[in-house]
Amino acid sequence: MSRLFVRFHNITFTYPSAVAPLFCGLSLHLPCGFSGVVGANGVGKTTLLRLATRHLTADAGTIETPARTVYCPQRTDDVPDRFEQLLGAQTKSAWSIREMLRIQSDWLNRWATLSHGERKRAQIATALWLEPDVLAVDEPTNHLDALARQIVGAALRSFRGVGLLVSHDRELLDSLCTQCVFIDPPDVTVRPGGVTKGAEAARLEQQTAQRQHEQSKRACEKVRREAIRREELARQAQSRRSKRGLAIKDHDAREKKDRARVSGKDGVGGKLRRQLRGQLAHAQDRAETTRVKKQYEVGIWLPGSTSKRNTLLELPAGSLALGEHRQLAYPDLTIRPTDRIALTGANGSGKSTLVRHLLARLEVPPGQLTCVPQEIDAGRSREMLDQVRRLAKDRLGHLMTIVSRLGSRPDRLLASDEPSPGETRKLLLAMGMLSAPHIIIMDEPTNHMDLPSIEALETALADCPCALLLVSHDRRFLEPLTHATWHIAANSDHPDTFTLGIR
Ligand SMILES: Nc1ncnc2c1ncn2[C@@H]1O[C@H](COP(=O)(O)OP(=O)(O)OP(=O)(O)O)[C@@H](O)[C@H]1O
Ligand SMILES: [Mg+2]
Repeated sequence: MSRLFVRFHNITFTYPSAVAPLFCGLSLHLPCGFSGVVGANGVGKTTLLRLATRHLTADAGTIETPARTVYCPQRTDDVPDRFEQLLGAQTKSAWSIREMLRIQSDWLNRWATLSHGERKRAQIATALWLEPDVLAVDEPTNHLDALARQIVGAALRSFRGVGLLVSHDRELLDSLCTQCVFIDPPDVTVRPGGVTKGAEAARLEQQTAQRQHEQSKRACEKVRREAIRREELARQAQSRRSKRGLAIKDHDAREKKDRARVSGKDGVGGKLRRQLRGQLAHAQDRAETTRVKKQYEVGIWLPGSTSKRNTLLELPAGSLALGEHRQLAYPDLTIRPTDRIALTGANGSGKSTLVRHLLARLEVPPGQLTCVPQEIDAGRSREMLDQVRRLAKDRLGHLMTIVSRLGSRPDRLLASDEPSPGETRKLLLAMGMLSAPHIIIMDEPTNHMDLPSIEALETALADCPCALLLVSHDRRFLEPLTHATWHIAANSDHPDTFTLGIR
């Protein structure tokens, strides 16, 4: 088993519609155990996983990879291949995986109404059950509640082949990975350890490069000044040697010039000048080769406004059907113009269903509601990008500035045939920021987003004056931003019925 590995040799890959290659001359060695794959949205993490598992073919170069590979997708749109076989299998491993990931026998029939967290568990269960030599898991903890996260973490830890893990979950990356592949175009760098250790190493590398760059620049400046000084000396010497401007009969002055030439004293300046030119070229070379990454400014501002209404929602107590046999009961619900509410609850407890129910009953004009849903399928994100491309130039420019300030590349996004989930989310957020909403509703906003953009979003939401309703499993994200919690819990006497409580 330990002889398993994946190796990229000089790989170049470009999507047909793209403006530039995503990878150029990429060589990588991925040994047994998990390698994390990290980088901003749209840099090519999913693409790298799909190349490693032969779902994509490189334009040039070779990839050595064992025969049995599985890619566990980032999107939760489709029923996993072989899920039906997993549900029907009577082997010990199938039973234990179904039990471990709490997979229910009717999930295939209920796929359309399963929550994304449940779909994620189904994907991971199928992938593990197939016992591949290479397992590439793309954002496995998106949508998952705390318990499911633990279960998935433990399940992945039991995997013995070559693992590739894309995640924005630092804890998972740190606890699972022996090395991390950092994609920071045009560089792809492998660093040992989890993401925290790797990111610290990257920071130190960047600091050292910055220091060396500054030293080289200073050295360059010094040599340049010296060169100017000597140029001046040489110029003076030249004018001393030149007889131009001297009267033909001024024999004394002409003789002096000849003496200066014969002694060669003034020629020394010229020689030194040539040496200095060499030194200057060398110093410039060094300054140019110590590459310092350009730091792009990240950060957005959400232009919310406070509604003049007393309430944005007044919903009397009621209940909602969650599929055929399950129900969610809720008390009287009110949202005021400056309320900041966290909506929490385990996977499948009906949070997204409730959000859809509330959306239809909000007393907010459509132009003043920003809603970022939990998932946007691939077809819908392509449509959205098409609409965006048709926007007037100034609006498009504004949107792309926001995308760029969230750390993704507008040129790549606009050329894409299929925006990545993170890019799609940024696009949606940017569209929501074109108006001044009275309420922002976000269902699992941190899913798919890279870390710097999550931080940018946190800061922007903290400063935003409108009402907020945030659905998330990420307590670290919710706590500073909200001051009330609507928590949905299963009823102890009847686990298929849920009740929303206000705290
Ligand atoms: N089929 C495609 N055709 C053209 N461009 C594509 C296609 N699929 C993805 N892209 C583009 O290639 C780039 C890399 O996409 P990829 O999905 O690998 O990014 P990612 O790093 O996984 O992003 P995220 O963090 O959002 O998941 C993105 O800019 C994306 O829009
Ligand atoms: Mg991806």
